[in-house]
Amino acid sequence: MTTSEIRSKFLEFFKEKDHQIIPSAPVVPEHDPTVLFTTAGMHPLVPYLLGTPHPQGKRLADAQKCVRTTDIEEVGDATHLTFFEMLGNWSLGDYFKEDSIAWSWEFLTDSRWLGIDPQKLYVTVYEGDGVVPKDEESIALWQEQFAKVEINAKEGERILALGKNDNWWEQGGVATGPAGPDTEIFYYIGNEQNPKFDTENNKFVEIWNNVFMAYQRQEDGSYTELKNKNVDTGMGLERASFTLQGLHSVYDTDMLNQIKSAVAHYAHEVREPTFIATQPDTTERAERIITDHTRTVTFMAADGVVPSNKDQGYVMRRLARRAIREALVLGIQHDLFARIVPRVIALYEDEYPELGTNQIQIMEVLLREENAFRQTLVKGLKEFEKLLGDKENLSGHTAFTLYDTYGFPKELSLEEAKRINLPVSNLFEAEFEQQLDAQRQRSRTATSGQFKGGLADDSEIATRYHTATHLMYKALRNVLGDHVMQRGSNITAERMRFDFSHHEKMTPEQIEQVEDMVNAQITKDLPVSFTEMQKDKAFEAGALGAFGEKYPDIVKVYTVGDPEGDYYSKEICGGPHVSKTSEIGTFTIIKEESSSAGVRRIKATIK
Ligand code: ALA
Repeated sequence: MTTSEIRSKFLEFFKEKDHQIIPSAPVVPEHDPTVLFTTAGMHPLVPYLLGTPHPQGKRLADAQKCVRTTDIEEVGDATHLTFFEMLGNWSLGDYFKEDSIAWSWEFLTDSRWLGIDPQKLYVTVYEGDGVVPKDEESIALWQEQFAKVEINAKEGERILALGKNDNWWEQGGVATGPAGPDTEIFYYIGNEQNPKFDTENNKFVEIWNNVFMAYQRQEDGSYTELKNKNVDTGMGLERASFTLQGLHSVYDTDMLNQIKSAVAHYAHEVREPTFIATQPDTTERAERIITDHTRTVTFMAADGVVPSNKDQGYVMRRLARRAIREALVLGIQHDLFARIVPRVIALYEDEYPELGTNQIQIMEVLLREENAFRQTLVKGLKEFEKLLGDKENLSGHTAFTLYDTYGFPKELSLEEAKRINLPVSNLFEAEFEQQLDAQRQRSRTATSGQFKGGLADDSEIATRYHTATHLMYKALRNVLGDHVMQRGSNITAERMRFDFSHHEKMTPEQIEQVEDMVNAQITKDLPVSFTEMQKDKAFEAGALGAFGEKYPDIVKVYTVGDPEGDYYSKEICGGPHVSKTSEIGTFTIIKEESSSAGVRRIKATIK
């Protein structure tokens, strides 16, 4: 049975039981700013579970797009995913345990539906606590179902009563929310005749969770009874699919396997003949991570998420970048998303039409991120190796230098160290934080008042602003990412104005980081110099330009820092500039605002 068949059978079944089939909500919660992503089918329904009447009635079912990133490190094994589809059915104060259990049984075992051999099914229920009693009712209801096929479902054998960790469900990540005891259905994938049921044994795979949601958790951790007694169920589609298809991994199921195969084919096609194949298990792991992460970022982009350095955008960027890095393990050095994302869209657009409708936007967002990251990566990895030299471990100092100078994220340094089996210093976090602090201190005590002797004329001030603009351009890219391109610049004797591409308002923290970075470069008193070179050579050397600007064949490239070694910024520019950064003064951002669609504007002064 294919993944699509399981999905459509599920919805068809509950339609027959008088449920309304509702569309999936977006992966970014529309009404709940406290959680970054929709993590379960019940999430978009919280207000209705708490008592608001749902416009479509009391019986609902759907396939919901979910993102969960808590186990991101586990992705690559047989079962973990950051994106999955959750099938669910709900009773909003309508049916309760009896129908819920009877229907789960019917859907799973009846030959019209999934037709699972009942011998393979095992269940758990809540053992109770001081407040909520043991769920004897569910035990009896399950026994009744098993008895129909002459299975004597004894408690302690086929049915286990377990505690809060196993059979109590509540919405995670929020202070208060709906909760209740649940009954979980397991499918045995081993080949023993009479296996001993144990939820810790991974031969028993949980395929469906029915929550009897009759409580609301309060902020003090106590529970009050809900007006309505609800049912909330969740069946992870990919997991159900691999279990029922008798496979060993979710990545071998029909849908995910098509993405994984596309990755493998592409790698085979584009890698250099000199590419040395890694171990098969490393290859498999990389293919799985790329499959998972690419699918997740595609769905995120379809719902309007754009990579950035905060919130949803940060998670998306992390996943996109991880996929690109893993692709290097397979020898893929370009166009990962250009090749794989259209496959993901084609596979899922029937079920999730927003993928097709937003295809152009999805491709644009992901291709831009890939290109920007490849530049950072090449530079950062080179420096990583250089800086590490023969060091015995990765210190916070080294990671900070990479972050400060190249915008190479701390997480990447950590992951890269892990990849090459380099231990991480015990003091890593402390060292990194300490340098970040030191940098803040430096910028606070920076050289204000250095220019008291005599009034500088306007052109001299403009020159100082001009160099400050270069520093800020670079700092913006370090803080916000390489998608930042100069879109315009204007300098007067009072202020500088700078327009740049970026999709959202900067946070106060980001503004402070940019200020700090600029002031740190000023404090370091870096030399400013220029050389003339061929335009192409300048871009190859990593010099920045402005978006859409036409440059002559021979250009001037200004470098802040050592042009042959450690430099902070390189930019194509006619000048003039100060000769040392300490001449600039103290840099302050006074305003950050929207300029036009996708373009932000900063006004800043120097004193
Ligand atoms: N809300 C329940 C879950 O996520 C069904 O498992």
